[in-house]
Amino acid sequence: MHHFSYKNGELYCEQVPVRRIVEEFGTPIFIYSRGTLERHFKIFEEPFSNVPHLICFSMKACSNLAILRIFSNLGGGVDIVSGGELFRALRAGISSQKIVYSGVGKKAAEMDLALDADILMFNVESEEELQLLNQRASAKGKKARVALRVNPNVDPLTHPYISTGLKSNKFGVPIEQALDIYMQADRLEGIDPVGLDCHIGSQLTELAPFLEAVSILRKLLRKLRDGGVEIRYLDVGGGLGIPYDQETPPAPGDYGAAVLDLVSDMSVSLIMEPGRVLVGNAGIMATQVLYKKQSSDKNFVIVDAAMNDLMRPSLYKAYHSIIKVAKDDGPTRKIVADVVGPICESGDFLARSREMDDPDPGELLAVMSSGAYGFSMSSNYNSRPRSAEVLVDQSNYYLIRQRENYEDLIRGEIIPGYILEAK
Ligand code: LLP
Repeated sequence: MHHFSYKNGELYCEQVPVRRIVEEFGTPIFIYSRGTLERHFKIFEEPFSNVPHLICFSMKACSNLAILRIFSNLGGGVDIVSGGELFRALRAGISSQKIVYSGVGKKAAEMDLALDADILMFNVESEEELQLLNQRASAKGKKARVALRVNPNVDPLTHPYISTGLKSNKFGVPIEQALDIYMQADRLEGIDPVGLDCHIGSQLTELAPFLEAVSILRKLLRKLRDGGVEIRYLDVGGGLGIPYDQETPPAPGDYGAAVLDLVSDMSVSLIMEPGRVLVGNAGIMATQVLYKKQSSDKNFVIVDAAMNDLMRPSLYKAYHSIIKVAKDDGPTRKIVADVVGPICESGDFLARSREMDDPDPGELLAVMSSGAYGFSMSSNYNSRPRSAEVLVDQSNYYLIRQRENYEDLIRGEIIPGYILEAK
């Protein structure tokens, strides 16, 4: 459920016409609905309301400060994967005690920042990382709270690029080695092994892989306790899918109930790291049609948004529904077209061979479900300034990120003096 719908043939975000936002701030633009964000957070949290838990929004999905703050106001924390995300999270006012830090490639300087901030937990993904973290923490006279991210070798049945819980993926420590590494961690001066973590992939549309992974964690947790390692946090990761097209992912309530069923007797504080399910359908990207053209066997709708703005279709062949911001008055003409952007690559498309309402140049289109991994994966490729972001709250709307300008594009670039002078 989201708050983007037509009223009298016009697409609204909550009570604001998308057209009004575009007239003020231009295209391409990301528009988020606060009502939807909050609703998703509450629905996701509901099943866990009677057990100790923390929802750590996986902020790589959408890292705008305003959005982080909305979840933080609801009691949420964040799952971070870089020093940059830590910086953003702290700037958004998120309590460091609600931050977990995942990722296979944490650098010493990033560890130091997180140790100084005294974050809740590092999700450690290798033995070598554990050793480095031990050194950095010991040097500061601290103990880093740690969960090992285990790789349970479960097939999440999703796109190969976003599957993370298989042996062949780079993530986590192999489940067979986990017990030994915990025993080792327990002896390290700078490490306090307090948690157990896994995340098997993203855009999962079945419950079974989640449950298989949690069952594996359950067994390991028992063994750890038997071995005297006192695990207090069980982090089950994120990954719950959303409907982009025809898929029917489990409802968050069913997911929550099933996970809870498996862990409720384990005396742990549960941590979840949802990303997409909280923000995906809470955001759209609006774009304007520039031109149309026809080749011998194809129609192209050329719009002003491109793969640098929304990379998912190009990178994963991901489907995003594309609809008109103003519906046609009379009967709609249909067209089958590739919706493409201005970038100089044939891989630059938002949709391929898509049957859609035939738009005219100048018309606005909404690329739906763009809230997750939309803006956060955008780039400046082809020297295109990144889009603006707007948050809608009932009948009000707020610019939450200015559109970049050309000066922003060259910030930090330097022509060495001798090259300037050479002629
Ligand atoms: N926790 C960890 C450790 C993760 O790596 C991820 C996502 C999440 C949680 C959140 O997963 P979610 O609930 O959003 O599925 N760019 C891709 C998705 C990459 C996901 C990476 N990790 C896409 O656009 O589909």
